[in-house]
Amino acid sequence: MVAAAGLLLLLCACTIACATGSTHSSSFLSQPSPAVRRSVRERIFRTVRLQQPQQLDYVAEGKQHLQQQQQPQFGVSVEHRHAAQPHQQHYQTDWLQQWYPIAVEKFTDRRVPHAMNIIGRPFAFWWDDQQEAWHAMKDVCPHRLAPLSEGRVTDEGHIECPYHGWQFDGESGACTVVPQKEGPPDSRCNGKAFPCVAKQGLIWVWPTAKGEGTVQPAESLIPTLKIYEDPDVVSLDMSRDLPYDYSTLLENVLDSAHIPFTHHKTIGKRERAVPIPLKLDGHLDPVHGFSGSWTSAPPLMTGGGKTKEGVYRRSTRFVPPVLMYHRLEDSAENATMWTVVYAVPTSPGRSRIIARFPFRFGEGSKPMAKFVTFMLRFVPDWLQHINQNLVMDDDAIFLYLQEHRISSEGDGTTLPQLYHMPSASDTAGCIDRYHQHTIHCSSCSEALTNIKRVQKWAIGGLIAAAAYRQIALMALAFVVIQVAQQLEQGLTKGPYPPPRNMPLPDRHLMKKRVDGVQAVLRQALLAVMMRLEGLLIRTSRWGK
Ligand code: FES
Ligand SMILES: [Fe+2]
Repeated sequence: MVAAAGLLLLLCACTIACATGSTHSSSFLSQPSPAVRRSVRERIFRTVRLQQPQQLDYVAEGKQHLQQQQQPQFGVSVEHRHAAQPHQQHYQTDWLQQWYPIAVEKFTDRRVPHAMNIIGRPFAFWWDDQQEAWHAMKDVCPHRLAPLSEGRVTDEGHIECPYHGWQFDGESGACTVVPQKEGPPDSRCNGKAFPCVAKQGLIWVWPTAKGEGTVQPAESLIPTLKIYEDPDVVSLDMSRDLPYDYSTLLENVLDSAHIPFTHHKTIGKRERAVPIPLKLDGHLDPVHGFSGSWTSAPPLMTGGGKTKEGVYRRSTRFVPPVLMYHRLEDSAENATMWTVVYAVPTSPGRSRIIARFPFRFGEGSKPMAKFVTFMLRFVPDWLQHINQNLVMDDDAIFLYLQEHRISSEGDGTTLPQLYHMPSASDTAGCIDRYHQHTIHCSSCSEALTNIKRVQKWAIGGLIAAAAYRQIALMALAFVVIQVAQQLEQGLTKGPYPPPRNMPLPDRHLMKKRVDGVQAVLRQALLAVMMRLEGLLIRTSRWGK
């Protein structure tokens, strides 16, 4: 909760900085209409006011640490980035001059172009086999504004518009082919290319066109993590589009207090909830974000008990505007686990989460932990994604409703009214794993295709087995169909109600069912006995 309050203050500060910044500095929040801007600010201010008692302590504590010049000890290269960045204040308040991660590289199909919004602007990005590089362009064809992402990638690595076949070089944005025109295309046919690179397994885009802007899009500005330089680290990664705002997402992932309740039965337990106060390390400003350590262990790993002094160390870091992570270190086990979230503001009221779960078990760890780490390398990504989606569903079901509630307190011109949101009565839209994840994930979409294929084969097998009265094969085909259905559901939609709200078994109903089964068994036994009896009588007659 404290972390969430800190985030709100930061968002508030960012908003003020954006609103009062230089004219060439643009803001994500300033992209929509003035009414929307006003409503977002009101929301942040109102929530900060509600949080004020905690907030004051938080700020005071932060200042105190700043005065003591305490420096956080974190392995994030962004620490160095800020020291070397000459336009710190400008850099942090300029939403268009940032690196944003847009996808996990290994789950992004290299054969086709992709679409992605960043701060409300449409981008097409694709892999260029010739230059062995990712490219990004504005997803709008200069000819008649068709989306380039609906086109195809040519053998030269260029993107071809689906409408009239104009082609563009992703490195420069230059139009290379206009099929309807003799001679080379003129400069007015050119599109806009944007800096786009792959780093630490993610694809990053800088949403200011090449040659424009006031800040050099140096790769050193990418908020990478040092842990990914460690070869012993194993990381489970995924991304998902969410039907709620980037600010709601960040609030949620920084708020550890919700884990035992929201994620009851998935990764938490209600009965393990404990106070988990955050002690700030010093930073609390729009430039550096904040970092702090927790004086309680997380409910997840240790059962929510107090931090064992010198054994567990848990810390949280927020680097504006997109990166946050929790880090848990267990020195007795020589184990370190991270929860890393990049929250991408795709458009107002919508966001993309890129979640990474790196961990490392060093010398002295339990053999079982090492074995599990080793085995995880062989678990297909799509199976892990089904699991991770289950955890994300827990939050997704109600966070968009929370946004609605907050907005309905306003003046009627707030984000969910002005931008498309799923119907308040339609929770299915929030746990639509297919459109939010599978469609963008090459591992999951391939698995889904294969699962459907297996399902068809199993149905065919079931029919054939029935025709030949092969009971064992029928049973096998039936089991395969059931498993395939479960997996298909895991890749397309989440369960509702969520695991935390699953009703407890009804004892009365259970008893009735047990009684029913017993009655059926009794009847069956009786029938068998009668058959045996009849057989005995007939046998005895034959014997006469
Ligand atoms: S709209 Fe793209 S080529 Fe015509
Ligand atoms: Fe996936």
